[in-house]
Amino acid sequence: MWLPLLLFAFQVPCVQGVPIELAASPGWIEKGPAIASTVHEWLIRGCTHAPESRKLEVAMPRPALIALLCAAFAASCTQAPPPAPDNPNVKVSEYGKTPDGQTVLLFTLRNRNGIEAGILNYGGILVSLKTPDAKGEFADIVLGFDDLPGYLAKHPYFGALVGRYANRIAKGKFKLNGQEYTLAQNNGVNALHGGLKGFDKYIWHAEPAEDGEQRLRLRLTSPDGDEGYPGSLNVAVTYTLTDNDELRIDYSATTDRATVVNLTNHTYFNLAGEGLILDHLIQLAAEKYTPVDKDLIPTGELAPVEGTPFDFRKPQRIGARINDPHPQIQAGGGYDHNFVLDGEPGTLRRIAMVQEPTKGRVLEVSTTQPGVQFYTGNFLDGTLKGKGGATYHKRSGFCLETQHFPDSPNQAAFPTTTLRPGEEFTSTTVYKFSKGK
Ligand code: GLA
Repeated sequence: MWLPLLLFAFQVPCVQGVPIELAASPGWIEKGPAIASTVHEWLIRGCTHAPESRKLEVAMPRPALIALLCAAFAASCTQAPPPAPDNPNVKVSEYGKTPDGQTVLLFTLRNRNGIEAGILNYGGILVSLKTPDAKGEFADIVLGFDDLPGYLAKHPYFGALVGRYANRIAKGKFKLNGQEYTLAQNNGVNALHGGLKGFDKYIWHAEPAEDGEQRLRLRLTSPDGDEGYPGSLNVAVTYTLTDNDELRIDYSATTDRATVVNLTNHTYFNLAGEGLILDHLIQLAAEKYTPVDKDLIPTGELAPVEGTPFDFRKPQRIGARINDPHPQIQAGGGYDHNFVLDGEPGTLRRIAMVQEPTKGRVLEVSTTQPGVQFYTGNFLDGTLKGKGGATYHKRSGFCLETQHFPDSPNQAAFPTTTLRPGEEFTSTTVYKFSKGK
C-alpha cells in the first residue's frame, strides 16, 4: 500500500521544485509504513506548506531506489507548471497526530476584516471562529477543545462535518430498492450521525485554495458498506470565509449505488463567547416543525408552530419557553427538533437570525436545505472541559444543523434523501456574522 504512495510522492517535489534527499539503508520493509506516513504528510500539506528542503531517509536496497528514481524522472516530464505561491489567507499548521500516526492539520482561513476560521482535516471540524463584537473585540464563538485529544475522545460532534446520514434513522434500519439495510444502533435503538465512525472521525483529504482566496476543500470516499450504508460515496465539502464576513459551506456527493445522504455541520455557537445561550434572541423562518417520539424520531407529522414554544417566526429569547410543559419540549429536554423551513428547498434563502444582547454579535443563516435541527445543547452536562478550561454546562451552545429531515429514509412523505448513481447531491449553507447596533 505504501509503495505506490511513495512513487507518487516523488512527483510532488518535482512539481514544487523542492529538493528531496534520499539515502539507502537496510530494513526498508519494516520501515515502509513510517516512510509512507511521512510522504502522506507531505501530500496532505501540499503546496501551501512546503518545507524548504525535504530529507527522507528511504531505507531500501539501492536497486529498488534507482528504479523508483527512474519512475519519478519519467513522471516529472509530464508534470503541470509549478503551483501558485503560498496562500497568505490560508495558514496551515500541524495540530497533532492520531493514535495510528496520521498527522492532523489545522487550516486557518482569515478574511480582510480579521475574522478567522480554524478547520481540521480530521472530521472537517470547525475548531475556532473568531469574530468581532459590537465594540470590535474578537472572541471565539464556537465550542470545542484546545487540542486534538479533546476531539479524538468522545464528544458531542463539536464543529464536525456529519455524515453519511446526519441525525437519526429509526432502529438503524431502512429499505431501498426493496432491500433492507442495517446500521449501527449508536443512539439507543437508533442510528445517529453516520454511525460509530461517521464522517466526523475521518481524516479528509484537504486542498487549500491556491488562488489567494480563503477557501478549503475537503474530500473523502466512504466505501460501499461503510457503517452499513450501500454504495461508495464521494463527498466534497468546501469551506469559504468571504470578505463579507460569511462562512459558506458547500457540500456535494455522488455514489455508485443507490444510497441515502444527509450532510451537515454540527457547530455549537455561543455568540457571547462564554456562558449560557438562554438570552440569545432567535428567529426561525419556519411555519412548521417535525414533532418527535420519546426517542427523538419524527412521528411523520408536520405540525404548525403557531401557539407553541416552537414559534420563532418573530425573535424570541431561546430561554423564554425552553422549560415549557409542552410535551415536545419535554421530549427533547429543550429544543432538539427539526424545523420545516419556509421557501423552496434548493434555493439559498435566509432561515435564521440570532442576536446576542450583551456583546451585540449577530448571526444570520441561509441554506438551500429543507430543514434545520435547532439544538440547544441539552445533553451538555458540565462533564466536558472545553477551550481554556471552560466547563460546558447544559445550554452553553446552540446548533443550527441545516439538513434534510431526520429519518427521511423511513418517511415517504419527507423530501427524499435517496441519491442514485448519475445524480449529484449538493447543498449550501452560509453563516453571516455582523455586529448589532
Ligand atoms: C444532534 C441531536 C441531539 C444530540 C446531538 C449530539 O443535534 O439531535 O439529540 O444527539 O446531536 O449530542
